[in-house]
Order: sequence, then structure tokens, then C-alpha cells
Amino acid sequence: MKLDRKIIIRNIIMLSLKNICRDHIVYLFNQVDDMMKNKNSTSMKNKILVNAFFEPSTRTSLSFETAMYRLGGNVITFNENVSSIKKGESFEDTIKTLSTYGDIMVLRHPEIGAVEKASKISNIPIINAGDGSGQHPTQALLDLYTIYRTFPELKNLNILFIGDIEKSRTIHSLVEIFTLYPLNKLHFLAFNNCLPNEDILYNISLNHKQNIDGIIIQPDQLDISLYDVVYVTRLQKERHCSSVESNFILTPEMVSKMKEKSIIMHPLPRNKELPTTIDMDKRTVYFEQMKYGVYIRMALLEQLTN
Ligand code: NCD
Repeated sequence: MKLDRKIIIRNIIMLSLKNICRDHIVYLFNQVDDMMKNKNSTSMKNKILVNAFFEPSTRTSLSFETAMYRLGGNVITFNENVSSIKKGESFEDTIKTLSTYGDIMVLRHPEIGAVEKASKISNIPIINAGDGSGQHPTQALLDLYTIYRTFPELKNLNILFIGDIEKSRTIHSLVEIFTLYPLNKLHFLAFNNCLPNEDILYNISLNHKQNIDGIIIQPDQLDISLYDVVYVTRLQKERHCSSVESNFILTPEMVSKMKEKSIIMHPLPRNKELPTTIDMDKRTVYFEQMKYGVYIRMALLEQLTN
């Protein structure tokens, strides 16, 4: 399918996934399939990516960096601790400056909405690499791509999200992208005091035609053999004001009860919710997620910059 490149670009300069549609996703995934075959190109030669992370990151920052180098481009990295922010410079002036030096910026910030604010100041496109407990759109795209590799039709899936449902931006963005795929059922098994807000439950019940009371699964009701996708997240300790605890562990015993053709996902980093003893199970795909992230980000960088 041929889509107007400009429309794709406008829609994917996304701070959230609100403007994306299924045609864009098909287009993006086809591009990713091609990139996985070719691996390197020179399409970003002479282009500079500004990597600006105001919060810790391993995979997102380094996969964007790898992606840019694989496309023949260059990367400059902003480090808050040795920047003029330490001399009292504002966020606004910092963004204005960074956007003068590069062609595209990847920005992560601990506050919800900070990336959107930056996009209004910047002269160059900004990709949201996570804004507090808000959104993480590129992670949702790589997560969806990972699901699509096993379940290409993206329908009739029973999906269980486990962990910090309230504060996990990766869950928020993946749930949002699934509004485009209403023929799947979404469920949550939350750590204590980490339940999703009412709006999320309401939207799921409307979009996916689910009974609102059945969306939340209590640990003692869990029948893990019902699910095709089990998506686990860590406790977002840094985002909670009150005391919370990670009180669920996906044990090897539980995993052994899962469907043969099901997958276990995690955006990583993990804590105790996902023991390393399950890593060898063929259903685990979290290291694949990490690998696909590079190609998804290569495709996005190309679409946004060229
Ligand atoms: C996640 C994030 O930063 O939101 N990690 C990632 O980008 N792969 C998940 C997390 O921090 O728990």
C-alpha cells in the first residue's frame, strides 16, 4: 500500500499514539521487515540525532543510537548532570538549544506532558521516549511488532498485563494502540495499589466489548492457561508517592501452565516479578522485543527525517 509520506510523517511525529492508524502500522511493519533483512543503510548520512534523556535508560537510548548509526547518521548525547541546567538554565532554553544542533530529537522526561511541551518549542521533530507515567509510543510499536511476529492477524488474542498497571507508561501506550485492534480482550493483574484508573477500564469495556467488572483479575482467580500474551512490568517505585509493593512473581510453575503457543513479554528492566529461571522457556520474547526495538526505531527515524 502506498501512503502519502507526508501524512505518515505528520502522524508519527507522535507524542502519543493518538493519530496513528492501522495503515501506518502495516506500512511501518513492512519497513521493519525489510530493515531486518538489510540491517544497514546510508539514508541518514549527514543527519544528527539528539539523544536527550532526563531519566535513566539503557534500551531506549542505546537502541535509538544504534538505529541512527545503522542508518549512517550521527548522534549527540545530552547529559543533564554536566549541562547548563546545573547553572539554572530552563528546560525551554535547553530544548531550544538542542533543537538547533540536530535534525531529530529523542526525549525522555520524568514529567507527563514534558515532551509535548518541548515539541512546541523545538525546531525539529521530537520522538517521545517516555514522559513520566504517561506514554512510551515507540515501545508500544515494538511491543505490537513482537506480538505480530507470533500472531500476525492481531485478533482474537487474550492479553494479560501484570504488574504496575497504574504507572507503567509501556502498558498505557500498548493499551492505547490496541484500541485499533478491538477484536482482542485485555485484562489486568495489578500489584497491590497499582490498579489502572477508571478511564482505562471504561475505554477497554467500550472498545473491546468487555464487561468492565471482568477486566481486573485477582491473583487468586488467575487461570494463566487462558492467555496468549502475558505482558509483565516492574514496580515503578520512582513514580509512587504512597507505599507500594511488587507482590506477584511469574514463577516457572505458572509458566508451565501457559498455552504452548503463547508469549511472555516484558519491556525490561526487570526486578523480581520476572525470574531469570524462566528465560530459557520458548515462550519468553523479551530479548526479541529488545532486538526489534532497533529496527522499529530505524524505520521511525527514516520516516521522520527524510
Ligand atoms: C520501560 C520505561 O522506561 O518505561 N523501559 C523501556 O523503555 N524499555 C519500562 C520501565 O522502566 O519499567
